[in-house]
Amino acid sequence: MPTAQAWNENSVSEVAKRLESKDAEGVLRWGVETFFPRIGFASSFGAEDVVVIDILMKINREVTIFTLDTGRLPEETYEVMDQIRQRYTVPITSYFPDKAAVEKLEREKGFYSFRQSVENRKECCGIRKVEPLNRALQGLEAWITGLRREQAVTRSGLPKAELDSAHRNIVKLNPISDWTTDQVWDYLRKNQIPYNKLHDRNYPSIGCAPCTRAIKPGEDIRAGRWWWELPEQKECGLHVKPGH
Ligand code: ADX
Ligand code: SF4
Repeated sequence: MPTAQAWNENSVSEVAKRLESKDAEGVLRWGVETFFPRIGFASSFGAEDVVVIDILMKINREVTIFTLDTGRLPEETYEVMDQIRQRYTVPITSYFPDKAAVEKLEREKGFYSFRQSVENRKECCGIRKVEPLNRALQGLEAWITGLRREQAVTRSGLPKAELDSAHRNIVKLNPISDWTTDQVWDYLRKNQIPYNKLHDRNYPSIGCAPCTRAIKPGEDIRAGRWWWELPEQKECGLHVKPGH
């Protein structure tokens, strides 16, 4: 199997072709067999992510589950994190933003600078999510997400394995990329997995508290994220490749 440095677009797309016909457990099993212990799961503890945790815990309970604790998360997110921690008796590793950077941002631009422009919003996501993610991925050869193709125009072509050129060309695995929303909820209910209670209040997609609202009937599932921006701008930088 290639080392971290040896992965390139070709070798990862070969893997992606093979993994396309595998189910989520098959994709995760391949990831764990290939990379453990240098593989981690980035979890925001939304519905998709608790599904991935449940499947992952059946394969290997020692895979690191990490979360980017932006300092602005809703209380309900901490509640589900703790429920998951207890149910599977696993540690959740938090990565916080750099404190000097947050102190400077809040002192200079206030507490809601992200509402003023896309640039300011990306600055806040950069400090609170992107830089901590870079730290979380240090030393890893692969990371796992709960991304799905159905979620957004920006995600429709999402493969089950991709080269993460924004992060040292490590491998990014999206084991439930082809799941529908119904599949996610069927799995959650059948297996009685704890989930974020905001989902019961019309929040299909949950991020930071001030940047997430409930959606109205008929609205897109990500309409409540950064609702003041256009759909094609709504990525926080965790999943954007340079030059795309
Ligand atoms: S975001 O880019 O718009 O914030 P979204 O909320 O849809 O992403 O989540 C997509 C995937 O990104 C999640 O399944 C998870 O793997 C990862 N992710 C998002 N937010 C976080 C977070 N705060 N901590 C860890 N992983 C996260
Ligand atoms: Fe900042 Fe909002 Fe991005 Fe959270 S989602 S990091 S509060 S801009």
